[in-house]
Amino acid sequence: MNEVVLVTGASKGIGRAVALAFAQRGARLVLAARSQDRLAQVADEVEALGAEVLQVPADVTDPEAVAALVDAAASRFGRIDVLVNNAGIGKVGAVAEETFADNVRQTTEASLFGMIDVTRRVLPMLQKQGSGTIVNMSSVMGRKAFARFGSYTIVMHAVSAFSDSLRQEVAGSGVKVTVIHPALTATDLLKEADEAEMPPPFRYMRPLSADEVGQAVVKAVSSGRQRVVLPRRANLLLLGEALSPRIGDAIATALSTRRIARLMGMTGKTYHELLAR
Ligand SMILES: NC(=O)c1ccc[n+]([C@@H]2O[C@H](COP(=O)([O-])OP(=O)(O)OC[C@H]3O[C@@H](n4cnc5c(N)ncnc54)[C@H](OP(=O)(O)O)[C@@H]3O)[C@@H](O)[C@H]2O)c1
Repeated sequence: MNEVVLVTGASKGIGRAVALAFAQRGARLVLAARSQDRLAQVADEVEALGAEVLQVPADVTDPEAVAALVDAAASRFGRIDVLVNNAGIGKVGAVAEETFADNVRQTTEASLFGMIDVTRRVLPMLQKQGSGTIVNMSSVMGRKAFARFGSYTIVMHAVSAFSDSLRQEVAGSGVKVTVIHPALTATDLLKEADEAEMPPPFRYMRPLSADEVGQAVVKAVSSGRQRVVLPRRANLLLLGEALSPRIGDAIATALSTRRIARLMGMTGKTYHELLAR
């Protein structure tokens, strides 16, 4: 694999893991995020695996920065084979809370409009090449909402819908679209949230590791998968939700009890226990 892979939100968490997973496969990397220092650290890790890397500090909510990012990638490598739209934020809070609408706005800016802008800049290049894959990072909450997570789930549903629309629009052009739906993952995303504030199904849940998600992204691209739900058993929840919101909510409630979570093999160190280490 000598493909050129552009990863947004590559300075930590899932984006870093995606970058390392592609580097292990011999890809050339373009890494973007706002924090220059952390980005430089990830670039060093990627280089240590023998991969060529270009790091471009960029805020995906800034159209000029996004244009400069894509131009820099094009002038260094002349092509982009895989775009991983991963940059994003997440906030916890009930609909009734004062900050709710603001949380929706901020999350929409970073996690949706950023994605749309980067995609629209990269897409003409992929269409000209007649090949390439756009990977959009959604969440299990991009198909099933949880209490106290309204602002995040609204935006993740939008990311899913954006991905599904785009996939149909580019069908037959050689460009593929993949949407990834990870469950709770042990990254900094929700580190500001109190344990007691977490949505009920997360109380006893053992989160995925960022590395598991990173490996799954590489596999999804190489196998041309359109949609990946992680872990696979989360499909049961999505199937229940598709049949009826009552069934979906009943499964979410059941997962909020330790016994059922244990029966489903979902218990272990929780998000906050892992973050505290
Ligand atoms: N953790 C989970 O439970 C989970 C589950 C499902 C899906 N996801 C999704 O996975 C993606 C990555 O999240 P994560 O869990 O890895 O969280 P994270 O550790 O907080 O990483 C978020 C990344 O996005 C970057 N970022 C945020 N805002 C940005 C902006 N405006 N411009 C450019 N980069 C920006 C951050 O870098 P800088 O701060 O340096 O800019 C960082 O690299 C998100 O889209 C999230 O919705 C996460």
